[in-house]
Amino acid sequence: MKKDSQIKAIKSSKELILVAEIDRKVIGYIWGYIEEVIKYKIGKIQELIVTFKERGKGIGTRLITEMLNFFKKNKCIISEIEVFVDNLPALKTYEKIGFRKREYKMQLKLDNRKFSPFV
Ligand SMILES: CC(C)(COP(=O)(O)OP(=O)(O)OC[C@H]1O[C@@H](n2cnc3c(N)ncnc32)[C@H](O)[C@@H]1OP(=O)(O)O)[C@@H](O)C(=O)NCCC(=O)NCCS
Repeated sequence: MKKDSQIKAIKSSKELILVAEIDRKVIGYIWGYIEEVIKYKIGKIQELIVTFKERGKGIGTRLITEMLNFFKKNKCIISEIEVFVDNLPALKTYEKIGFRKREYKMQLKLDNRKFSPFV
C-alpha cells in the first residue's frame, strides 16, 4: 500500500469494520463479526469490497489479514465467509490466504413451478 494510505477501524467487542484509504479516499472496506456457537467463537466476514481501480494490489488481502488478527485476538477458532461459486477473484483471494471450501449452500428459485412429492 502507498505511504499515505491507512486503515481506519470502527470497533466494538464483537464487530470490526475496517476502511482502507488512499489520499483520504475510501478504496476498500471489510466488515466482520464474532458469533458464539455453544462455547466456540467463529469469526465471520460479512462484507468485503475494494474499488475496481485498486483491485489486484493486495488491499483485499491486507483487509482480511487485519480482520483475522482481530478474530484471533478474540479467541475465535475458525473464520468463515460465504462466497458465490462464480466469484473467482474473491475465491482466489481467500484461498491464497488459506481458506478452504468446506460446505455448499444450495438455492432453488421458487417461481411458478408447482412442487409435488409424487413424480
Ligand atoms: C474480492 C476482492 C475484495 C479482492 O480484493 P483485491 O484487493 O483485488 O485482492 P488482492 O489484490 O489482495 O488479491 C489477492 C489474490 O487474489 C487473486 N486475485 C485477485 N483478483 C483476481 C482476479 N481478478 N483474477 C485472478 N486472480 C485474482 C490473486 O492471486 C491475488 O494474489 P497475487 O496477485 O498476489 O498473486 C475484490 O476483487 C472485490 O472487491 N471484488 C468485488 C466484491 C466482492 O466480490 N467481494 C467478496 C464478496 S464474498
